[in-house]
Amino acid sequence: MIDPALFTRFPLFQDISPVILEKIAAISHEHVLAKGEAVFREGQTAQKLHFLLKGSVALKVSIMSKPDSVTVSFVAKAYECFGWSGLVRPHHYTASAYCDEETSILEMDGEELVKILSANPEAGYKVMSRIAELVSDRLRNSRQALLKTL
Ligand code: SIN
Repeated sequence: MIDPALFTRFPLFQDISPVILEKIAAISHEHVLAKGEAVFREGQTAQKLHFLLKGSVALKVSIMSKPDSVTVSFVAKAYECFGWSGLVRPHHYTASAYCDEETSILEMDGEELVKILSANPEAGYKVMSRIAELVSDRLRNSRQALLKTL
């Protein structure tokens, strides 16, 4: 099992009690992906929430009028969260995530995390407020990136 103390470094899990972090650690898994590999693809069913441990990930969206997809955000800070659609209905990724280099990722099942958060509403409120901030950042970045392509 991943050391629960690691989760105290994740901005998403700041001020969450050690007992809950232990439950989150128990549903988490680490993966290493090669440069160019997809973590997930736009439109795919979103079952997992992802965190960068090492490396970097580009979030890209496809536009019908352009042959190449457009990079709308970079995930390059360790412990940063991505793939918020794993927690938010309708659970379809709104962008593709590609590794820009060899990348270590921590993943957890979104449904399992929701069960833990529902049983602990105070922690659930903190985590979901931070997810809302992340979605808001993504919306702002995507808007800017897409406007530049016009
Ligand atoms: C998504 O989860 O829908 C896309 C990835 C992200 O913005 O983190």
